Amino acid sequence: CGIIGYIGKRPVLPILIEGLERLEYRGYDSAGIALMNAKREINVLKVKGKIKDLKVKVENDGYWWSNNHNFHIGLGHTRWATHGRPCEKNAHPHLDCKGKIALVHNGIIENYKKLKEFLISKGHRFNSDTDTEVLAHLIEEFMDGSLEDAVKNALKKVKGSYAIGVISIDDPNKIVAARNESPLIIGIGNNEYFLASDVPAILNYTRGVIYIEDGELVVLDKKGFKICPLRRKREVKKDIVKISWDVASIEKNGYDHFMLKEIYEQPKAIRDTIKAKVCNGKILLDEINLSPKELRKIKKVFIVACGTSYHAALIGKYMLEKLCLVPVEVDIASEFRYRSPLLDKNSLVIAISQSGETADTLGAIAYAKNKESKIISICNVVGSSITRCSQGTIYTHAGPEIGVASTKAFTTQLAALYLFCLYLGSIKGLIDQKTCKRCLKALEKIPEDADTILKRASELDELANLFYKKSNFLYLGRGINYPIALEGALKLKEISYIHAEGYPAGEMKHGPIALIDSSLPVVILIPKNQLYEKIISNMEEVKSRGGIVIAIAIEGDKNIIEKADHVFYVPKVLNELTPILFTIPLQLLAYYIAVKRGCDVDKPRNLAKSVTVE
Ligand code: G6P
Repeated sequence: CGIIGYIGKRPVLPILIEGLERLEYRGYDSAGIALMNAKREINVLKVKGKIKDLKVKVENDGYWWSNNHNFHIGLGHTRWATHGRPCEKNAHPHLDCKGKIALVHNGIIENYKKLKEFLISKGHRFNSDTDTEVLAHLIEEFMDGSLEDAVKNALKKVKGSYAIGVISIDDPNKIVAARNESPLIIGIGNNEYFLASDVPAILNYTRGVIYIEDGELVVLDKKGFKICPLRRKREVKKDIVKISWDVASIEKNGYDHFMLKEIYEQPKAIRDTIKAKVCNGKILLDEINLSPKELRKIKKVFIVACGTSYHAALIGKYMLEKLCLVPVEVDIASEFRYRSPLLDKNSLVIAISQSGETADTLGAIAYAKNKESKIISICNVVGSSITRCSQGTIYTHAGPEIGVASTKAFTTQLAALYLFCLYLGSIKGLIDQKTCKRCLKALEKIPEDADTILKRASELDELANLFYKKSNFLYLGRGINYPIALEGALKLKEISYIHAEGYPAGEMKHGPIALIDSSLPVVILIPKNQLYEKIISNMEEVKSRGGIVIAIAIEGDKNIIEKADHVFYVPKVLNELTPILFTIPLQLLAYYIAVKRGCDVDKPRNLAKSVTVE
């Protein structure tokens, strides 16, 4: 979910709408706003659907724009449903019984059933099926003049995760906010203050941002702001962070979709990631905050992540075990802490996350912290929750990624992982200087190779023309490219709603082979490595059962042309770097197929870019 709030001199309505548009990647099944005027009236508008539907409703109801200049305090919300189906009554903001308090919430109130029973016994009546509404009523129960005191007291009863924004007509000239395990920032303007789940929402108005921490309560009014711990009275002073992104980087810049723009930004993103960590042919990773001595002591590595970042984690395992001779386990973050992994202080946990806010990944880090393991993250968002919980962070320099399906964040994660492997391998004496230089050179050439692929995007557009009406796809890869088969399938299903499965090519004969017939497109990743002959045999197995083979192969591999139905070539690179190049055509194929099917590529149904609930 995404939260936005504003208090200041400007009319609040356009600020909320713009903020919600920029936060829409966080959820878009319903949305709403609550505005307060000088007469201490709260007006609420909600819709099922996207922000564009909210805008239409605002336009159609003349009241909102004609009173635009009377509203200077407000809250907005874009929802990704957890409790209660997406519909108008479940959309935020939620109100208390008398409509005196309005509240927006991101997170899950775990003990909401118990609280609801208690509140019903006290005479409260509920209008929605959400966990959030309970909070509005609970605050009402404690309201005795001061909104911050009521919020503080209510939150003492709450178990779960939350970022909230609250306004009340009984304490009218302020917004009260609080955070526990869900992201929240405040933006500092000139006698105006913003509340948001993420920076892009407010970037047009201010670049001065404060990251709110778990257990902190914020009071914003027209003259200033106050941050204090929920459990104590004393105010805390925090630094204002200056955001360096420009607004253009969160616009589409002429591309039809953010996803396409972000696919095309990959050469630059990878180049920026490498440049930030390599100086005069040397890898500098001081940012991980682990000394060579500490790194040498590491006995085992655990990599945790979700979604696309999990696929990067799987590739990290191949790289680290091969180049650094260290055993690696990879976990889907939501599984990690529930299987009692055997961690200790000699374990290194690497959390990979584009957003740095994924709740499951944060949960995995918390588990590792308890076991006193070393924790580093690979992350794209400076100052995000995951980076703040890690000892150090290898930042990817992909810039803001808005499209829900991750593209440039993934390939920069792979570049960052490779750099980390070369760094660790060198420290452990496993990679000599000459080899390190050669590998770095190969990595530094990747942006150019990615450009070569992007110039041939039309070939993938043509392929998409042939296949966009299919209802199933199979993706096959082996070794380090098996996770790319998973990623290719994930991209396709996320944005086109075609069922797609990624499989290790050698395992196909134990199941998926039963699916193969002349209607099934099979995408096969074919690097020129020691598994080449084996994957060719897997391809023959597909062909002899009538399957349609789309081969992604290495430039110069003429042999493939006779065997596959369609071939897309990528430039020749070191084996460890083939995943980066193989990914790009799969992103483009998924993109063109989804567009031809008329899907909303940047906002696929039911998904959210940043999943801040467990
Ligand atoms: C969501 C997004 C995915 C992303 C995953 C992990 O499911 O839709 O694209 O890969 O979260 O996100 P993270 O920000 O932790 O990499």
